Amino acid sequence: MKLAILGMGAVGRGILEVLDGKELGLTVTGLADSKSGLMDRDGIHIEEVLAAKRERGFCGDKYISATDIVEQADYDVLVEVTPTDARTGEPATGFIKAAIGRGKHVVTSNKGPVALHHAVLQSMARKHGVAFRYEATVGGAIPIMHTLEHGLAGNRVLAVFGILNGTCNFILTRMAAENLTYDQALLEAREMGYAEADPTYDVKGIDAAIKLVILSNTIWKRNVKLDDVGITGIDMLTTDALRLAEEQHCTIRLIAEAVPERGILRVAPRVLPKNHPLVVDGSLNAITLETDMAGEITLIGKGAGSRETASAIIGDVLFIREMHVRGH
Ligand SMILES: NC(=O)c1ccc[n+]([C@@H]2O[C@H](COP(=O)([O-])OP(=O)(O)OC[C@H]3O[C@@H](n4cnc5c(N)ncnc54)[C@H](OP(=O)(O)O)[C@@H]3O)[C@@H](O)[C@H]2O)c1
Repeated sequence: MKLAILGMGAVGRGILEVLDGKELGLTVTGLADSKSGLMDRDGIHIEEVLAAKRERGFCGDKYISATDIVEQADYDVLVEVTPTDARTGEPATGFIKAAIGRGKHVVTSNKGPVALHHAVLQSMARKHGVAFRYEATVGGAIPIMHTLEHGLAGNRVLAVFGILNGTCNFILTRMAAENLTYDQALLEAREMGYAEADPTYDVKGIDAAIKLVILSNTIWKRNVKLDDVGITGIDMLTTDALRLAEEQHCTIRLIAEAVPERGILRVAPRVLPKNHPLVVDGSLNAITLETDMAGEITLIGKGAGSRETASAIIGDVLFIREMHVRGH
C-alpha cells in the first residue's frame, strides 16, 4: 500500500521511523513539509529523507508543494499530519478534500478538519467509496475510535468522560503531589516538553473541548461545535483547592464530559476520589464510556508523543488495507 505523508514534524517523523523499522508492507511515495516535497512511485528512501530533514531543515524539492503531492503523487492513502488550526481547519481540510476527490483514503491526526467538518468529510468519503479515519485526533495512542466502532459495536453509548489533555493532567498531578502552584507546575511541564511555549489552548480547556466535539460527533452522529461546549480551564486553580480535595481523599482532574440525555457537554475541573478510574497520573489520558450492554469501560494510555501517535495512524492505515484494498 502506498502512502503520501504531509507533515514531517514529531508525528510525521514518528511514522517514518516506524515504517523504516517494521516490515508492514507500506511504501511512502509522496512526502511534504511546509517548504518542500518529493515524489517517487517506487518508494522514497526513508533514512535518506530523515537525514536530509535533520541536516537541511527540509525534506525534498523546494519547487514541489504539499498540494502537488496531494494532486499528483501516486498513492492509496493520504496521511495528513500538518499542524492543527482549530479556527479554520486549513490548509489541512483542503488537502483532505482534494485527496478524497481523487478517490484516495485519508488518515489524519489533525483535530481542525475533524472538529469543524466531520459530517461533510465523512459524507464526501462515502460518496467516493473511500475511508476517512482520525484515530490519532483523540487520546493519542488510545484506540478509542476502533473500540467504539468494533469492540462496542451494537452498544448504545450513554455517556463519555475523559482526561483528554496530558498537559493539564501533568500540571494537576504535580500540583497535588508536590504542593506546587499552578505557575510552578506549568514551568515544570514546559521544561519537560509537555507544554507548548504558548499553553493557552491546553490550560484553558480548549484542546480537551475540541476532542470532546470529535468524540460526540463520532459517537452520536451529531453536529456539535466548539461553541456548544461549556469550558473551564485549570489556569485559575489554586493550591488551596487541591489541598481541600486532598483532605477528603480526593484530587482534581480536568474532565471532558458528554451526556446527551442530560444535555451535558462540558470541560471543567472536577473533584474525584483518588481511586476513581479516571484519576491517572502525569501526561496520561483516560476515557470512560458508559454503554447499555458492556457497562462501563475505561481506556488509559499515552495521549501524545511521536511514536504513540504513529501507532494510532498506522492502525488506521492497516485497517483501511484490511477493509478496502483487499476488497472485504
Ligand atoms: N505531537 C503529538 O503528540 C500529537 C498527538 C496527536 C495529534 N497531533 C496532531 O498531529 C499533527 C502534527 O503534529 P506534530 O506534533 O507532528 O506537529 P509539528 O511538529 O508542528 O509538525 C508539523 C509538520 O507539518 C509541516 N507543515 C506545516 N504546514 C504545512 C503545509 N502547509 N504543508 C505541508 N506540511 C506542512 C511542518 O513543516 P516544517 O517541518 O517545514 O515546519 C512540520 O513538518 C497536528 O495537527 C497535531 O495537533 C500531534
